[in-house]
Amino acid sequence: MHICIIPGDGIGPEVMGAARRVLAALAPETTFVEAEAGWEAFQRHGTALPEATLAAARAADAILFGAVASPSHVVPGYRSPIVQLRRALDLYANIRPTFAIQRPEIDFVVVRENTEDLYVGRERLEDDGDTAIAERLITRRASERITRVACELAQQRRGKLTIVHKANVLRVSDGLFRQSALAVAAQYAELVVDELLVDVAAMHVAQSPQRFDVLVTTNMFGDILSDIACIHSGGLGLASSANLGETHALFEPVHGAAPDIAGKDVANPLAAIGCVAMLLEQKSGVRSQELEDDEQDSGFRIQDSEDPTRSFANMGAQLRAALCAVTIHGPHTPDLGGNATTNDVTEAMLAILQRGNDR
Ligand code: NAI
Ligand code: MG
Repeated sequence: MHICIIPGDGIGPEVMGAARRVLAALAPETTFVEAEAGWEAFQRHGTALPEATLAAARAADAILFGAVASPSHVVPGYRSPIVQLRRALDLYANIRPTFAIQRPEIDFVVVRENTEDLYVGRERLEDDGDTAIAERLITRRASERITRVACELAQQRRGKLTIVHKANVLRVSDGLFRQSALAVAAQYAELVVDELLVDVAAMHVAQSPQRFDVLVTTNMFGDILSDIACIHSGGLGLASSANLGETHALFEPVHGAAPDIAGKDVANPLAAIGCVAMLLEQKSGVRSQELEDDEQDSGFRIQDSEDPTRSFANMGAQLRAALCAVTIHGPHTPDLGGNATTNDVTEAMLAILQRGNDR
């Protein structure tokens, strides 16, 4: 397996270093290439997403992305590289799971549309300088395909889908999303489907998360809801996500570059290491006879090992068990109330994986 790592800015390189060590320990045959993106890359090259990075990302079997520091003011020429990558590789499905290890009744997934909505960034300032306008793009095609992903996932899980929107106010744009999502969901007769307005959904995610299985929503609502959701799994230091398309897969922690703690060796690496678990799970279980001809040389669906102990599924399960052990028993970084360093946590993960291999 060939992995492109984009460490980015702030704590991105720290947590991606940990993720890389864990993946290399689990799957020693993995090859890595590192590529630049983000604010520091912009300072060096005048672009936050150099062509070489895009090419390396395209050529890899999967991408691990750390975090980038995007300024909150207009900087001519700067565009958020993660938003660009999602669009360039058509990574239209952002999968953000939340589970509370010590409260098994809390286990749900936010499925966020990843390519459109306000995040297409079509903003402008009127000539008077006092009026700003943003365009919100919603299409039937994107709304349908993201709902299909959510329905397939709900089918593999507890069979419940919640469609989240604000169609009572945004009648045209969210109206189209709602209508498209309901139409697709109706094709999955065995699913229990309901819908919620985003504001009340936010309250339920905070207050009664056990009512959810799979939520599907538009880009910005999904961004916000998934940050609320991660409170239940222990905060941003533990939340991982996948960005999936038909041909590429990118895994990234939900958190950002965390400039307040960067360079201090205190960032929690478990969200980034959780991305490695999601990566192995996404690659797991594909047998050679299932691969179409045009997939033979693409790593999006890689043939899994015939040896069950070396399979992606087995490595993913091993890593999940180690993540679970460290989340419960520590060592914990300060965000989880401990005083361990990033390196302490990484070493503890590696030691557990090593013990598993020795048995
Ligand atoms: P943030 O997620 O970077 O940090 C929020 C808070 O959570 C901070 O107090 C931080 O110290 C803490 N935190 C985050 N990750 C942690 C970890 N692994 N371990 C321990 N504590 C952790 O969000 P913020 O502060 O709003 O944004 C900072 C920068 O990151 C901004 O420039 C923003 O644009 C960027 N950002 C990038 C994202 C990405 O690359 N996908 C996503 C979100 C923000
Ligand atoms: Mg976010």
